[in-house]
Amino acid sequence: MNRLSFIGNSTLDAERLRRLLTGVFDVQFVELARVGGERPDRFTVIAPDYDDAPSLIKLRQWIKLRPKDGRMVFVTRAESRVENAQAHALGATGVVHRPIDSAELLEKLWDDIAVLGDTTPGFGALGHQGAAAAQDSLRDIFSAASLGDALKATAIESAGAAVVNDIEANGLSTWIETVRSHHSQTYQHCLLVTGVAVAFGQHLGVGSADRKRLSIAGMLHDLGKARIPISILEKPGPLDQDELAIMRKHPEYGAEALKTAEGFQPEMLEIVLHHHEYLDGSGYPHGIGGNEIPDLVRMMTVADIYGALLERRSYKPPMSPQKAYDILLSMGPKLDAALVRAFASVTKVAA
Ligand SMILES: [Fe+2]
Ligand SMILES: [Fe+2]
Repeated sequence: MNRLSFIGNSTLDAERLRRLLTGVFDVQFVELARVGGERPDRFTVIAPDYDDAPSLIKLRQWIKLRPKDGRMVFVTRAESRVENAQAHALGATGVVHRPIDSAELLEKLWDDIAVLGDTTPGFGALGHQGAAAAQDSLRDIFSAASLGDALKATAIESAGAAVVNDIEANGLSTWIETVRSHHSQTYQHCLLVTGVAVAFGQHLGVGSADRKRLSIAGMLHDLGKARIPISILEKPGPLDQDELAIMRKHPEYGAEALKTAEGFQPEMLEIVLHHHEYLDGSGYPHGIGGNEIPDLVRMMTVADIYGALLERRSYKPPMSPQKAYDILLSMGPKLDAALVRAFASVTKVAA
């Protein structure tokens, strides 16, 4: 039977978990204060004390030692935005709320078992160094952004270059196929958009400097989502009005995070802040339009929408390239018509 560690302060919690997971996992209880003695198990459920900063710092260090595809599911209170954000920042691969529902918990743990199995190896094992590097880089920048740490331009740049090489070697459809298996909705989205943007740049014949810029911008564009609660980010269905209003703050959050970082070009800030603006002024956050939106931003907006449509979500099957492209066409004056026309060849559909 698989071993699972429960890290927390209450033996009562551990007992409940043992009952919930009978026959599936062998649950070991580890007291929060004792964390650090052994490296993390492949399967770990953590109920930290979110008010105890020193123990959280220790926990964060320890979580970094987890096995490559290890699962770290955090227990939080559903209503606590802070706890959910903290769990994410500490390295949670999934979050469950109190009272713990066994089906939900198993879903968060199983989710990755397919990835752990021999039949579907991780990005690195598939020979997709670009995807593996980009994923590691995303984890670092999202963690830094949610903790208010400094972002490192160089790490993102080298991951961006790896994505460019990967797409040049294997093509866009292989890339899409690969990143669709990612369990995190946000990472999957960023990796998809990065690949689409790079392929778009390649098709338009932009120079290598701009192609690199597009790869970095793809990874950074939704950086602000690091400050949006996971319950909204990973909601298995459409968002309601209030949730949408929170979600729409991500371009500004992302720009704030980038402003504090060194080594990023001003174009990056523009893309992060304006990737949801439309040419007809109907976008957000500022409602700018027309000439106020530079080409690189226009390209990223097209790549972003297309990438989002192609995502694999738990509540809907992925859309076909043709259907996704038709949606771009139907957006009319919101998008740059010439770019959308050129984009048809990237997606290999009829314009
Ligand atoms: Fe976005
Ligand atoms: Fe996006």
